[in-house]
Amino acid sequence: MTLRWEGTGSDGRARAGILHTAHGEVPTPVFMPVGTAGTVKGMTADGVRATGARMVLGNTYHLMLRPGAERVARLGGLHALMDWHGPILTDSGGFQVMSLAALRKMDEDGVTFRSHVDGSKHRLTPERSVEIQRLLGADVTMCFDECTPFPATQEEAAKSMRLSMRWAARCREAFAPREGHGIFGIVQGSTFEDLRAESAAALRGIGFEGYAIGGLAVGEGQEAMFSTLDFTVPMLPEEQARYLMGVGMPADLLGAVRRGVDMFDCVIPTRSGRMGRAYTSRGALNLRNARHADDGRPLDPACACPACRRHSRAYIHHLLKCDEMLGPILLTWHNIQYYQDLMRRLREAILAGRLDVEAEAIEADWNCAHD
Ligand code: GUN
Ligand code: ZN
Repeated sequence: MTLRWEGTGSDGRARAGILHTAHGEVPTPVFMPVGTAGTVKGMTADGVRATGARMVLGNTYHLMLRPGAERVARLGGLHALMDWHGPILTDSGGFQVMSLAALRKMDEDGVTFRSHVDGSKHRLTPERSVEIQRLLGADVTMCFDECTPFPATQEEAAKSMRLSMRWAARCREAFAPREGHGIFGIVQGSTFEDLRAESAAALRGIGFEGYAIGGLAVGEGQEAMFSTLDFTVPMLPEEQARYLMGVGMPADLLGAVRRGVDMFDCVIPTRSGRMGRAYTSRGALNLRNARHADDGRPLDPACACPACRRHSRAYIHHLLKCDEMLGPILLTWHNIQYYQDLMRRLREAILAGRLDVEAEAIEADWNCAHD
């Protein structure tokens, strides 16, 4: 059987479930750390697993440029190459081409672009993106789409979404079904309800193993993102996983889980860790700030990660001040741990039917006056 999602409980619109994949089962709601170039930056695969993470994301765009999809396949696939033996979801490249590549030229068939690394010329089409994701060994393949920029007029958003829907049909056609593997469609349509409805209906007509919501967290703001989720999530099938791409901050995850989203990925915990930022149960901290220089407390007393169990805020502040690589490593570990702990807490609350109470407690802690 191809990859499938099984619901195990619900609370309001929020759902708990299990994603069954070729590389194991993943309890949802799930947050997938981002392993863009075949590594969750600064973490060993064992370290990522120790945080409780069960599924990671990889990127078609980066891996096709370096080390190359065919080379990854010759080396035994992405799981073997990065020593990650859990499931991997790969993004399709469309989003990254638009945000990173130079001299992009899009036509009906696909996108031609120059590498942001060395200027070399490349082409991605729906068929080639699906082939690359197969060469990488992705458990979940994503459709090649265009992430509609924000803001967009109704006409621009409609044209972009309809191109993505024609590409989605070609991706489904190009995807060879395999035990425990699947392909997800991506709903586009910006913040327009009628376009989201048209997109969701088109994807349901084609039929996918899961459904992603794309084109959000692109500058529209949390309120517009939540109202788009309010009308878009109910347009998706009940029986399959729903994935909100590229989201987000802890409060975004909480709000989206309450609106029925099952899967997330985002660079925020890893990227902000490298920039000196920690997400904690009492809100965010900037460890570069001099106020931490004499603070012997852990980042978060509620956290069991190595940074919190063995080190002080003062030590991490010192490491950052000296540009020591252990500083970003410890903060990355902590942030991934915080995201995994948050998702586990939400899963347990959904299964216990007390998500509202739990969400209130989590938010009260974020907003408390002291850290
Ligand atoms: N990552 C964040 N948003 C998107 C999107 O709309 N499409 C794809 N493919 N990846 C994304
Ligand atoms: Zn920690």
